[in-house]
Amino acid sequence: MSHTITLIPGDGIGPEVTESVLRIFKAAGLDIEWDRQDAGLIAFQRYNQSLPASLIESVHRNKVALKGPVTTPIAEGFTSVNVGLRKALDLYANLRPVRNLPGVPSRFENVDLFIVRENTEDLYSGLEHEIIPGVVESLKIITERASTRIAQFAFEHARAYGRKRVTAIHKANIMKLGDGLFLECARTTARDYTDIRYDERIVDAVCMHLVMHPERFDVLLLPNLYGDIVSDLCAGLVGGLGVVPGANIGTDCSVFEAVHGSAPDIAGQDLANPIALLLSALLMLEHLGERQRAERIRAALERVLTTTTIRTRDLGGEATTTEFTDAICREIEKA
Ligand code: NAI
Repeated sequence: MSHTITLIPGDGIGPEVTESVLRIFKAAGLDIEWDRQDAGLIAFQRYNQSLPASLIESVHRNKVALKGPVTTPIAEGFTSVNVGLRKALDLYANLRPVRNLPGVPSRFENVDLFIVRENTEDLYSGLEHEIIPGVVESLKIITERASTRIAQFAFEHARAYGRKRVTAIHKANIMKLGDGLFLECARTTARDYTDIRYDERIVDAVCMHLVMHPERFDVLLLPNLYGDIVSDLCAGLVGGLGVVPGANIGTDCSVFEAVHGSAPDIAGQDLANPIALLLSALLMLEHLGERQRAERIRAALERVLTTTTIRTRDLGGEATTTEFTDAICREIEKA
């Protein structure tokens, strides 16, 4: 089957890890036409826009995009491309499967959980203002519509993947109205899914439980900010940011991207670990109905990790991004 997919290489290590995925897909014989689009600083320099309209049109047209990380300037400059993209395309659900990869050492074994993070509101509304000098207000927006929609996504996903339990995470003891509404929507939704257990945890307590017994969790349902923080914590449980994939799902289009950022400290040095973007790209293939090809590539990756010592520096190895990519391509071609 042939596909046309929007490709947003991003910046920092983005172009290096996307190039790796493209080479691996080519080795696997995938027939994909990549519609390349600029975002972030590169787009800002070229078009004076960090999120050009042509990029949004491309994703609307192709329905699916693969995206590398994009740097967000801190406290000045353009607003986050990632937040802008999620809003423009209404990518309301952020999905992050967190599980151990064979051959990747980590603090825990048997971690196999899904993080479902609301992607459009909460403190990411970007509504901030200075009331008087020295006093700033940042608005946390929680709506019934967005909270119900993400709760339904979490339960549907749990059902589709045979999962047993959804845990809603909150701080409703303090934010009684905002997080209270999020919880109320999760509880109401849970009543329609009697085949799946539902429970609730306070966000600080769940962080402690996650770093002690992550294997006890199944599907975690979180508002935007807690989801952002807890998903990086969970990445640390299975080997770090370099091995966890992600997907931003909307009603019309989906954007697949790694959890990690643009890693400016190692950009341009051929040191980046491409696994997270590769696993995100495999989620994308499954989404496109290419499950067999995704399995073949995953098997090649796992063979490299279990039968060789070739891995990038973040995983304790010596290999460059290029050498690690070569090893996966060789395994695909051998099979
Ligand atoms: P980061 O994820 O870029 O880096 C954190 C640490 O992990 C660094 O030491 C980095 O070298 C390492 N690392 C990350 N990915 C790696 C990989 N694939 N292979 C090997 N090592 C890796 O997080 P940081 O430094 O907080 O953010 C840098 C920039 O990225 C910021 O401008 C941030 O806004 C942006 N960012 C973009 C995201 C996106 O486009 N989806 C997501 C997160 C951050």
